[in-house]
Amino acid sequence: MSKLLTLLQDGRFHSGQALGEALGISRSSVWKQLQRIEKEFDLRIHRVQGRGYRLVDPFIPYDPGHLTSGLQGLGWALHLHDVVDSTNSEALRLLGQGCATPFLVLSERQTGGRGRRGRVWISPAGQNLYYSLGITVRNGPHQLAGLSLVIGLAVRDALRRLGIAGVGLKWPNDVYASDRKIAGILLELTGDPAGECHVVIGIGINCNMSAANPAIDQPWTSLRNELGRDIDRNQLVLLLSESLDGYLRRHEAEGFAGLRLEWEANHVWHGRMASLSAGDREVVGRILGVDSDGALRLLVDGCERTFSGGELHLRLRDDS
Ligand code: BTN
Repeated sequence: MSKLLTLLQDGRFHSGQALGEALGISRSSVWKQLQRIEKEFDLRIHRVQGRGYRLVDPFIPYDPGHLTSGLQGLGWALHLHDVVDSTNSEALRLLGQGCATPFLVLSERQTGGRGRRGRVWISPAGQNLYYSLGITVRNGPHQLAGLSLVIGLAVRDALRRLGIAGVGLKWPNDVYASDRKIAGILLELTGDPAGECHVVIGIGINCNMSAANPAIDQPWTSLRNELGRDIDRNQLVLLLSESLDGYLRRHEAEGFAGLRLEWEANHVWHGRMASLSAGDREVVGRILGVDSDGALRLLVDGCERTFSGGELHLRLRDDS
């Protein structure tokens, strides 16, 4: 993180002269750096003659020292970026280069954040969590079954420990609070799913984003909306990593069967009528739960049917 941005974090006005003195550079260099920062981070800087410069949306940046030592206990290496296209893409590149797992990629901003079903994940600088964990899966089918649902449980657990009540899950792995999406999960796999492979666990959590963002096309909320205060993403990273580590261990030991009841107890639409779509195909039924592999169980025309696959999209029926 540039030193200049660190000085502006507090959201207060700083004169060009004071910033220049703190950094040992001229006022015109300050101005040039500010222009670069605005472009690189896509940040808004408010300029007022006689008062100086302030960040319109101030944020607490990641603290590499604090995070590295916190993650050391889990044996995870940290790759921290100011800007990347997508933390999932960066994790996949690292795996391609033979990087040892587990490792965590974090970034203040994503320029090409990806969601499920080819959607864009809006990723403004400093406001949210963009988190990708690279892991090795040695026991393919057993360890992959229900994995994405288990990640939802871990995210829910971390948000609960942060003080958010009533966090629920929507199959397969959306995380909801106050009936709105607060986090999304995107798993990407490389290697042989029947044997040893690598999985990138991508998690996006809306943290301090509060302004309406016309690019987001579904109802959403953020930790700040739910808690009524800004949260420190450093604390969230460590809480989430601990929760993930615990749930991944349980999943490895017990399989999804051991976590299935907990998942069903937290499914926001359990027992409701819903429609499930893949492209232009749609099935309507009552949600019964999930099976021991994490597939969705629906009661369709009196018969139980199961569904799985990353391209499926579940919606509540208006009349439910
Ligand atoms: C979804 O709900 O559609 C999944 C969203 C996943 C977003 C996260 S942000 C960190 C990681 N990097 C990405 O490009 N996507 C995931």
